Amino acid sequence: MRDRFKKDVDKLVREYTASVAFDMLLYNQDIDGSIAHARMLAKQGIISSKEAEDIVTALEDIREEIDDGRFAPSEELEDVHMNIEARLIEKVGDAGRRLHTARSRNDQVAVDMRLFVKEAVAHTIEKLVELQAAILDVAEANRDVIMPGYTHLQRAQPVLLAHHLLAYFEMLQRDVDRFGDCWLRADVLPLGSGALAGVPYDIDREFLAEELGFGEISQNSMDAVSDRDFVIEYQAAASIAMMHLSRLAEELILWSSQEFGFVEIDDAYATGSSIMPQKKNPDVAELARGKTGRVYGNLMGVLTVMKSLPLTYNRDLQEDKEGLFDTVGTLLATLEVFSGMVAGIKVDADRARSAVEEGYILATDLADYLVGKGMAFREAHGVVGRLVQHAVDEGKSLKDLTIDEYKKFSTMFEEDVLSMTAETSVAARDIGGGTAPKQVKKQLARARKIIEGEDG
Ligand code: ARG
Repeated sequence: MRDRFKKDVDKLVREYTASVAFDMLLYNQDIDGSIAHARMLAKQGIISSKEAEDIVTALEDIREEIDDGRFAPSEELEDVHMNIEARLIEKVGDAGRRLHTARSRNDQVAVDMRLFVKEAVAHTIEKLVELQAAILDVAEANRDVIMPGYTHLQRAQPVLLAHHLLAYFEMLQRDVDRFGDCWLRADVLPLGSGALAGVPYDIDREFLAEELGFGEISQNSMDAVSDRDFVIEYQAAASIAMMHLSRLAEELILWSSQEFGFVEIDDAYATGSSIMPQKKNPDVAELARGKTGRVYGNLMGVLTVMKSLPLTYNRDLQEDKEGLFDTVGTLLATLEVFSGMVAGIKVDADRARSAVEEGYILATDLADYLVGKGMAFREAHGVVGRLVQHAVDEGKSLKDLTIDEYKKFSTMFEEDVLSMTAETSVAARDIGGGTAPKQVKKQLARARKIIEGEDG
């Protein structure tokens, strides 16, 4: 490797440029890629089948050595690719030296990263669906619970708790779709691109794609060795997913506070305070909210690495890895612990219901009531606004008002206005995507179907 140089590389440079400390994580992908490459070279008569067999056997042995912690990677060998290749040559000599025919580390690392992202996407989708299932279970188990729906964090209109929870199901479903999309873009074989211009050997790229499970073959070698869009897409999808989780986290933090008291987080998912014995803290949710920051940071990191980078391979590209690995690990861990936390949530239906009784949450329904009697909505809005102000001044809730008080604000109010409740309010929103129990029941069934489809 250093034949052209008069000196060994400086020790600091070696430390600065080596990636083996983090890219050994790619050893399975690297070995899979090399096995496919060896088989392809033999099939094409570029190496002998005996050589290919020796290479494949030795690579499987090396995989076991790494699995068992018997492999000591060396920084002098720079990265995962050189470490595994050196060990291969130690084991099989000349055959090992032939493996790098018709290949460069540039297309090699690209294929490793694509295999890694595809696998990460599969795990991520699996964990997203598990969390969707946990959310759905809680929604189904509490399908009749009514709570305040909020805008501006002010009580706005009554909704079903299940409706609120299913909003997260929808968000996570879009995440599933986004990761599925990312998978399609990662599913392209770069091998055959060589260093940048393609390789001068009669290789079989279709065979490689088939062996490695790629649906497509890259169409431009220069693009293939310098493209990291698929890494960015994973990180972008992960950032959006973490943003969703941070919102759920925030709501669980609020809901489990004494101020709200709508839910209780299971003891196994809460922590105590070192000095305040009464406290039960929602640390998991808080950390998820916090970890969202580093996932965004990793996305900004890789976008900035790629910005203005000339074609084709530049060593900058080595900086695509740590942020990605960190994001995959953070997202998977967050999804997993959320599934457990959500599954263990205890809902306080009475607290949620009584929060609906306080305040003037049926005001919109009163306006809609007047519209039903023929009044224009804007006018009705004004009437109810004055009515609510009157109740506030009197220190009364809407329930406490008599029909005579109502009539002072509009003669269109009749006795039946007194029978309006949170239940009639939600039931009235019987429109596709609305919070009426009938609609929510449909959505619960639809969500269940989606989960079952994706599980199987
Ligand atoms: N460790 C390198 C990376 O991750 C592998 C590719 C090195 N290629 C090169 N031409 N130096 O990007």
